[in-house]
Amino acid sequence: MFTMQEDPLRLVYMLASIMNLDSTREQSLLEAPTRTEALRMMHGWLAHEVEVLELRNKITEDARGEMSREQREYILRQQKRAIEQELGEKNPEQAEVATLREKLDKADLPEDIRKEADRELGRLESIPAASPEHNVIRTWLEYVIELPWKTRTDDNLDIARARQVLDEDHFGLPKIKERILEHLAVLKLNPDAKAPILCFVGAPGVGKTSLGQSIARAIGRKFERMSLGGLHDEAELRGHRRTYIGALPGRLIQAMRRAGANNPVLMLDEVDKVGHDFRGDPASALLEVLDPEQNKAFRDNYLDLPFDLSKVMFVTTANTLDTIPAPLLDRMEILRLSGYSEEEKAQIARRYLIPRQLAQTGIKPELFEITDAGLNRLIAAYTREAGVRRLEQTLGRVIRKIALRFAESEPAKVTVTPEALVDMLGPEPVLPEEARKNLPPGVATGLAWTESGGDVLYIEATLLPNGKDLTITGQLGEVMQESAKTARSYVWAHAVELGIDSAKFLNSGLHIHVPAGAIPKDGPSAGVTMTTALASVYSGVAARSDTAMTGEITLTGLVLPIGGLKEKVLAARRAGITRVILPRGNQKDLRDLPDEVRKEMTFILADRVEDVLAEMLPGLKLTPAKAA
Ligand SMILES: Nc1ncnc2c1ncn2[C@@H]1O[C@H](COP(=O)(O)OP(=O)(O)OP(=O)(O)O)[C@@H](O)[C@H]1O
Ligand SMILES: [Mg+2]
Repeated sequence: MFTMQEDPLRLVYMLASIMNLDSTREQSLLEAPTRTEALRMMHGWLAHEVEVLELRNKITEDARGEMSREQREYILRQQKRAIEQELGEKNPEQAEVATLREKLDKADLPEDIRKEADRELGRLESIPAASPEHNVIRTWLEYVIELPWKTRTDDNLDIARARQVLDEDHFGLPKIKERILEHLAVLKLNPDAKAPILCFVGAPGVGKTSLGQSIARAIGRKFERMSLGGLHDEAELRGHRRTYIGALPGRLIQAMRRAGANNPVLMLDEVDKVGHDFRGDPASALLEVLDPEQNKAFRDNYLDLPFDLSKVMFVTTANTLDTIPAPLLDRMEILRLSGYSEEEKAQIARRYLIPRQLAQTGIKPELFEITDAGLNRLIAAYTREAGVRRLEQTLGRVIRKIALRFAESEPAKVTVTPEALVDMLGPEPVLPEEARKNLPPGVATGLAWTESGGDVLYIEATLLPNGKDLTITGQLGEVMQESAKTARSYVWAHAVELGIDSAKFLNSGLHIHVPAGAIPKDGPSAGVTMTTALASVYSGVAARSDTAMTGEITLTGLVLPIGGLKEKVLAARRAGITRVILPRGNQKDLRDLPDEVRKEMTFILADRVEDVLAEMLPGLKLTPAKAA
């Protein structure tokens, strides 16, 4: 046997088998007459092979030079991907798409939404991670996945239980609670009924927001709240299109995501503070949201998919109705919370606020006591408000002070008396609403309704010797200015009956001022007070200081009913006033007052301006009109 080295023919045969020659060439090699001939043939083929390889190399080399950087990166990435796959690893983008797909599967989306999401997922796969578009799509997909498209909570519509929950959370408010329960009863009997949207109206701290929470708790729904205060831009509500940089969904969709269920109780706080300007009219967008016909397919600009808001229970709150656009107002059922009397506040504090604060600070209830006198002082002197928010905060301050004491030394029972309050909270703050004790002629005590409840309001009038005309200051609105003019005309026209020298009207100017000057005031209900102040200044007879009044007047001297009576009466009482004159038309509203207020205060019903003047200016000699 010859080895390869010894027999070149063997080498030739071996090479031939490696080279993948066609069969004719193989045959001719076998048939080669001599070894040299075979070697020559082999040499020729090898030389050709080398040439081909050289050429191929040259071509790829040229081509590579032309390839752009991007392509090279692409190739590299593909190679990397191939390696990772080989090693059983996933690259981050693929992993991302895979997790998103997994989440989508779990999310249980409605069919058409799922289709849309899948399409975007496809786009995500084809767009490199470095592209800003990639991020936009990913964020969008995450939103779509997290929204509660189908998720909803089961309602617990056991009305007896709901009543119990409402009572557990809030003192009093029987009418409001009854109305809420009616609302729930309708929901129970006919889930698809178009129930009106409840709107709680009242001063700060009277429990509007917490009633909303209570409703949610009563029927076992999620609670979410969004403030509409200072909302100017419709896009805040509806979001920006995705093409905007940094676009996000609007507040409604965000609230739905937070809620995690598509049937939460959604409280729209401060509907009275919605603005509108060049950026659009959020109020009209709100209309759409609140309309059961339209909100089945609410379209957020960012999502650009229809979202069903029809299962949401909307509840709104406002401090005043004056600024709510009429179409919006039409859609809501107004429930007024008119503030609490001192006694009611004491009950709320004992039953609700104090136990809550104690629980929060971890003080055992048996170690804390506040005397009735202490609590009353806290209510009357340290806080003076329609609601109980400041009361809650002040109680919190007292209780935290005690907690600190307990933390520093051995806990022992603490009793809070009026004297202890001075220790803990400092001297009583000076509060503005104190009634004036003696009124000079020209000043009369009125009552105003404000967004923060009721207020005592003084109207001051003075004559300007040798002056002329009428000056009005104190930021009075148009209606109030008109009622000043009406009052003046009335007093002037009835000068004789009122025993006033009519020369005074011709010889002196009149200035009417209503402090506090910085607060805008409006409304017709100061009419009787204006008239009293004017009759007083022209006649020189001082008005009673223990009596406050409210009522609109006409030029012929009728006293017409006004709104917000309960708030006004409670404000008068807080200021230490014991008598209130009100229009006879408001007699029915007296029923809404707490018993102790009705017992303690005197109410005088007036039909005409003369009734008011007779009460307010006892020193005035009234001559009955000749023909009235
Ligand atoms: N009748 C009540 N019984 C028990 N607690 C009450 C009552 N009314 C109000 N509160 C408590 O007073 C606090 C303030 O109430 P809430 O925040 O609901 O006021 P609000 O009416 O929403 O005020 P704002 O207009 O400022 O938003 C809450 O802690 C609430 O629980
Ligand atoms: Mg609130």
